[in-house]
Amino acid sequence: MKKNYVLIIYLLLLLISCNKSPVKNMDKQEILKQGSQLFAKYGCAVCHSLEGKKVYGPPLNGIYMKEITVLRKGKEFKVVADRKYLKKSILQPRFEKVLEFKNTEMPIATFPEEEADILVEYIIALGEKN
Ligand code: HEC
Repeated sequence: MKKNYVLIIYLLLLLISCNKSPVKNMDKQEILKQGSQLFAKYGCAVCHSLEGKKVYGPPLNGIYMKEITVLRKGKEFKVVADRKYLKKSILQPRFEKVLEFKNTEMPIATFPEEEADILVEYIIALGEKN
């Protein structure tokens, strides 16, 4: 019986430690501020417009939960641009490509996952009406 408690506490601690991304404690204003700083710092703005224009890559405003046709291993798929999709697009741009932009390449990122989380929330916040 005692052993079970130890196990449950251990699992709870594990769960808490997995969930400590700093973005969870940020309000929208902080996300917009830090997000725009990262967006500039990593040169995302060179290729991505936030006003709906196509630059080198697709515009990123309003893409949250949009249906996107992607190319994965040569096959077409329709996916919904949820948090998971956005994060994967940022951290592993080669996993799947936006069909419409299949001939252009996004550079592979080398920044911490926590910053990718902020960028994801930033992209989502941009699409929300105030
Ligand atoms: C050199 C140009 C370039 C830079 C710099 C760049 N990207 Fe991209 N990005 C692209 C291209 C091209 C695509 C579409 C092709 C693909 O999916 O690989 C893309 C796709 C994306 C997508 C998926 C969009 C969609 O419509 O599904 C996201 C999200 C994204 N980029 C975010 C970022 C963020 C955040 C940064 C900065 C950390 C960044 N990109 C930097 C060129 C770039």
